Amino acid sequence: MLLLAFESSCDETSAAVIRAGTVLASEVSSQIKLHAEYGGVVPELAVREHIRNLLPVATLALERAGVSPHQIDAVAATQGPGLPAALMVGLKAAQAFAFVQRKPFIGVHHHEAHLYSPWISGQPPREAFDEFQPNVSLIVSGGHTMLVHVESELKHRVLGGTIDDAAGECFDKTGKLMGLAYPAGPIIDRLAEQGNAALFDFPRPLINDPNDEFSFSGLKTSVRYFLRDNPRLLDDPVALRDLCASVQAAIVDVLVTKTIRAAKRLGVRYVTASGGVTCNRALRRELLARCQKHDFQLRLAEPSLCTDNAAMIGILAERKLAQGNLVNDYDGEIQPGWVLG
Ligand code: KG4
Ligand code: ZN
Repeated sequence: MLLLAFESSCDETSAAVIRAGTVLASEVSSQIKLHAEYGGVVPELAVREHIRNLLPVATLALERAGVSPHQIDAVAATQGPGLPAALMVGLKAAQAFAFVQRKPFIGVHHHEAHLYSPWISGQPPREAFDEFQPNVSLIVSGGHTMLVHVESELKHRVLGGTIDDAAGECFDKTGKLMGLAYPAGPIIDRLAEQGNAALFDFPRPLINDPNDEFSFSGLKTSVRYFLRDNPRLLDDPVALRDLCASVQAAIVDVLVTKTIRAAKRLGVRYVTASGGVTCNRALRRELLARCQKHDFQLRLAEPSLCTDNAAMIGILAERKLAQGNLVNDYDGEIQPGWVLG
C-alpha cells in the first residue's frame, strides 16, 4: 500500500510517500529564513508559503519515490493542533486529492505523530516499535513540551505538559535577550559546545516537583535579570558561550530529570524523544548518559526527523489504517486546539 502524507501545521511544508513502514521519499520546505526576520513565525506569511510550496513539495516527493498520483492508495494530513490557516492548506489539499482519487483519507494528530518519529528509518520500523513499549516519550519543540506514556501501539496517555513556555520557546526567547537570531536554539547549541555550563547558575523550574509538568518562563526572566545586572557580558564572546552553556544546562537538566523520573515511576524500560529541541546535542548526550545510568534503553528521532515532517504523519496514518482506523471524512475540519488525550 502506498500512502501520501502532508504536514503544514506551522512553518514547514512537507510531503512524504510511505510504503509498509518505510519512507520512500520525504520532502520538507522550511520557512525558517523567512520568519527569522520577524523573530518568530508570522501566521499570514506561513500560509502564503504553504500555498506556494505544497504542490511542488508533493510533486517532488512523488517523483523521488518513483510513484505517480494514481498509484497512491491512501492519503493523510495533519489535522491539528497548529496554526489554523496553515493546517487548512495541507488538510484541504490532502482531502481534495483523496476525494478525486476515491481513496481513504486519514487526519492525524501532530503530537501523536511525533511519538512515532524515532522509528522512521530505512528499515520497516514496526518490529522495533513493538519491542519498545511501553515507553515514556518526551516531545519537545518550539510549540510544545510534554511527557507521554505510550502503553502500546496507538495507546497513550499524556502525563504532563508545560504550564507556560515550551522549552524551544525558552531557547529562542533567552537567545533573543542575548542578541542571537531566531531561532536561537541551534545557535545556543553551537556556542554552548565551547562554553562552561557550570559557570552561571540558573533556576531549574519544577525540577523537584513530583508532577510531570514543566515551566520555563521563570528561567527566561532570570536570564533577563542576569543580563540587566551584567550588561557588558555580551561584549565578551567567551562569556557569551559560557552563558549559552549555562542556560542550556538548566533547560536540559529539567527535561532529562523529569523524563527519567516519570520512566522510573511508571516502571517502563524504554525512553524516547522527538521534536525540534531533540536536535540539541547536550540534550541527546544527557538523555543517553542518564538512561544508561538508570538502565533505560533510549531511542531518539534522527535530527532531520526531529523537526516537523510529513514522514511521521504518514508512518502513523499507515498504522491507523492497518488497525482498521479508516476514515473517509473528505469534509473533516482542522482541529487547531486538538489536545492529545
Ligand atoms: O519541531 P520544531 O521544528 O517546530 C515546532 O516548534 O513545532 O521545533 C523548533 C524549535 C525551535 O524553538 C528551535 O529553536 C528548537 O526547536 N531547536 C533547537 C535546536 N534545533 C531546533 N533547540 C535547541 N538546540 C537545537 N539544536
Ligand atoms: Zn512538531
